[in-house]
Amino acid sequence: MKRPIAELWGSGSYTPTRVMTNDEFSKFLETSDQWIRERTGIRERRVASPQETNACMGKAAAEQALRETGLTALDLDALVVATCSPDRLLPAQACDLQAILGAKRAAAFDVQAACTGFLYALTVAEGLVASEQAQHVLVVASEKLTTITDWQDRTTAVLFGDGAGATIVRRSTNGRGILSSCLKSDGTLAELLYRPGGGAVHPPDEQLLKDRSYYIKMAGREVFKAAVLSMADACDQALQRAGLTAAEIDLLIPHQANIRIIEATAKHARVPMDKVYVNVDRYGNTSAASVAIALDEAVRTGRLEPGMKVMFVAFGAGFTWASMVVQW
Ligand code: UT7
Repeated sequence: MKRPIAELWGSGSYTPTRVMTNDEFSKFLETSDQWIRERTGIRERRVASPQETNACMGKAAAEQALRETGLTALDLDALVVATCSPDRLLPAQACDLQAILGAKRAAAFDVQAACTGFLYALTVAEGLVASEQAQHVLVVASEKLTTITDWQDRTTAVLFGDGAGATIVRRSTNGRGILSSCLKSDGTLAELLYRPGGGAVHPPDEQLLKDRSYYIKMAGREVFKAAVLSMADACDQALQRAGLTAAEIDLLIPHQANIRIIEATAKHARVPMDKVYVNVDRYGNTSAASVAIALDEAVRTGRLEPGMKVMFVAFGAGFTWASMVVQW
């Protein structure tokens, strides 16, 4: 088994207080609680208020992780934010977070890998630590997806939610840390899950508002199939690179998009469902924040304890997908 270079130290998360149930959607969309629950496993999601920005949610999650480690914001050398729904398009979300966190010494930048963003960001942080660019890297995954979701489109509106998660990456201690990781992408499939308008190709104009191309568009069924195949392959890769078998994994934390995708991934990876962390029922799909929030919850509820081996796996727009095995 590989010796880890970097470890995840402490964790935190923040989810908005406003809970939106499936029944609320059936008041203005042709949908039902039954359809949403049966097809996705989602019962409710959190919806951020205008005051609950990514910067604020990220700050709350980060402060929790900092408190746990005894570090202050001034101890941070770098701050990496994973998001696909930033508060504003320029500057990076990480710079706004750095400002309100008071992380004056830290380099700050974003990683955009959609739902896979947290795992990409952790890998970048591991690299910063390995190359001795940084001692303490704050990794935050934060999303306010309800602002880029088309609330008139039942095929996407019911799926997404808001929230943030955080951890700190530092040099490994006592054999703890990242045992393996695997990052993949396929940009030829970008248009199966994307936001067509609002960028430099289709800058904001009247047409953009009319055709609602500012919002997320998804070919759900195709994305579903790709997610199952890719996450299954990513689990195999991470296990192989770590020199471990599925039986040696104590907890699987998959991206929380759909309970059927989670079950199919766990089945392929040969990890029984009682070793799989699931909170998609309470938060829906929070993209990059999904694995980060689940990780913090797993720690706080005692599902993830020191000495355990945890495997993360995620899939999202890009397409991007990734996995990671961590000695906790
Ligand atoms: O975060 C990473 C990326 N995202 C994902 O991983 C999501 C991947 N996709 C999925 O989770 C699923 O494909 C969905 C949950 C989006 C859809 O489930 P599905 O079982 O693939 O349904 P479908 O798209 O094949 O649609 C089945 C039917 C359609 O009606 P017809 O054509 O059979 O008459 C849809 O129009 O369900 C209809 N439908 C709905 N009905 C009620 C779609 N959305 C809804 C809805 N309520 N909200």
